[in-house]
Amino acid sequence: MQAAIDTMFVAAAEVADHSLVTMAYLVAGVLFILSLAGLSKQETASRGTWYGIVGMVIALCAAILSPEVTRYGVLAVAMVPAALIGGVLAARVQMTEMPQLVALLHSFVGAAAVLVGFASYLDPHMGMTTAEEMVHQIEVYIGICVGSVTLTGSIIACLKLDGRMSGKPLMLPGRHLLNLITLVVTVLIGIWFVSNAVSPDGIVIDASGVILLIVATVLTGVLGVHMVMAIGGADMPVVVSMLNSYSGWAAAAAGFMLGNDLLIITGALVGSSGAILSYIMCRGMNRSFASVILGGFGAAEGTVATGDGEQGEVIEISAEDTVDHMQSAKSVVIVPGYGMAVAQAQHALADLTKQLRDSGVTVRFAIHPVAGRLPGHMNVLLAEAGIPYDVVLEMDEINDDLPDTDVVLVIGANDIVNPGAEDDPTSPIAGMPVLQVWKSKLVVVMKRGMATGYAGVGNPLFFNDNTRMLFGDAKASVEAMLAGLRT
Ligand code: TAP
Repeated sequence: MQAAIDTMFVAAAEVADHSLVTMAYLVAGVLFILSLAGLSKQETASRGTWYGIVGMVIALCAAILSPEVTRYGVLAVAMVPAALIGGVLAARVQMTEMPQLVALLHSFVGAAAVLVGFASYLDPHMGMTTAEEMVHQIEVYIGICVGSVTLTGSIIACLKLDGRMSGKPLMLPGRHLLNLITLVVTVLIGIWFVSNAVSPDGIVIDASGVILLIVATVLTGVLGVHMVMAIGGADMPVVVSMLNSYSGWAAAAAGFMLGNDLLIITGALVGSSGAILSYIMCRGMNRSFASVILGGFGAAEGTVATGDGEQGEVIEISAEDTVDHMQSAKSVVIVPGYGMAVAQAQHALADLTKQLRDSGVTVRFAIHPVAGRLPGHMNVLLAEAGIPYDVVLEMDEINDDLPDTDVVLVIGANDIVNPGAEDDPTSPIAGMPVLQVWKSKLVVVMKRGMATGYAGVGNPLFFNDNTRMLFGDAKASVEAMLAGLRT
């Protein structure tokens, strides 16, 4: 009798534990959705981040305290060093190095999905029906393939963004055919693997299954490398968000394999939001998703444009003269780009903006969807420097006002203000919507020299009659302007 009561209590405690964990996962899932909603607007972004942090803490605690977890020693060995390394890395990373860190973190999700796939194959849940076994093996195979593409593709993206690998696209002859063959062979191996592993007597775990999984990992790994190698510098924003989406689907696949609802929800959220972001990025660059994936667009950044017809003499301007123009202007638009992030000029720029606004000049910021190296890169830096949100406008909101603008200050931006995108059908960035700064009365471009931007293409804007070049590090130039304003 006593034994039966004990068993009942243990079962009841387990049910309670499971429902608590499910409840915690549900709360975490809702918080993740609120976080995404918050992050979509600058005003609510900070709140969104907190929702995400709280959701993640709840999810971690629920996963650690769930009844399935018993070996806390092993968990500690895995988690403590990882948390320390992650914390130190995140604290040390510069804002300009964020894209490569994000890419690297995507590769970890891919690696995790591959490892979970192998573990789920070698240690499956027993007592499944044949149909369930088949679904399980398909989950394992897809999880490993998506994980492997994400792993290797993200490592290449990280190396390219970090400048350790050239941004030039790798154009192997017959590369589309190669990709197609790899894809078809991967599918065939998948069919072989699933039919091999599923039998009416239960799941078959053998060496040939492991070998097939290793071959699929290598094949899809090579596919990931090749796909990202073929994508040129100018398309990297889409690649980062695409890999973000892949990492979400890899996490969702791991969730299916582990039967973890929260991983499935989170993975689907990341996967679909990454896909939507890729679509928005493609629209921002006027590129179709297929043409990005097929690759081959853009050269290495930092090359110096050499003479080709449209070029000529540039007209230089000093920081003092720029200040004079800005002080006598009614309206000023500032276009920040990657160079502002490199120079960390946002705080000095915030001071300049304040001084100009205090003296009655209308100052607004124009943000291109792919300015910098990360979605929202410029918004984050401007918010960090305390620039009011209401003067920060998106490209579509401000482009029509540029013809009535007295002075446009382009600070460390290049590709996003390149008129060649509109006028020159042969330009590699032809068709990409750009900020039409050349339509304003005066454009002052702040950069260090005549180097190209990320897409590696020359910029005819610099040679226009109404363009002045203010050469030097962006922060030093803004500080010189501030000094000029004070005197
Ligand atoms: P870019 O076209 O890359 O131009 C940045 C310019 O900043 C360079 O021409 C560089 O010229 C100048 N610069 C660098 N350091 C500087 C410093 N310390 N002071 C002053 N100037 C400095 O940047 P953008 O206009 O922001 O365009 C973004 C590009 O990156 C696009 O092609 C986009 O497709 C790509 N991209 C975007 C993302 C996302 S999601 N935003 C991700 C990856 C790639 P000097 O060397 O002559 O100074």
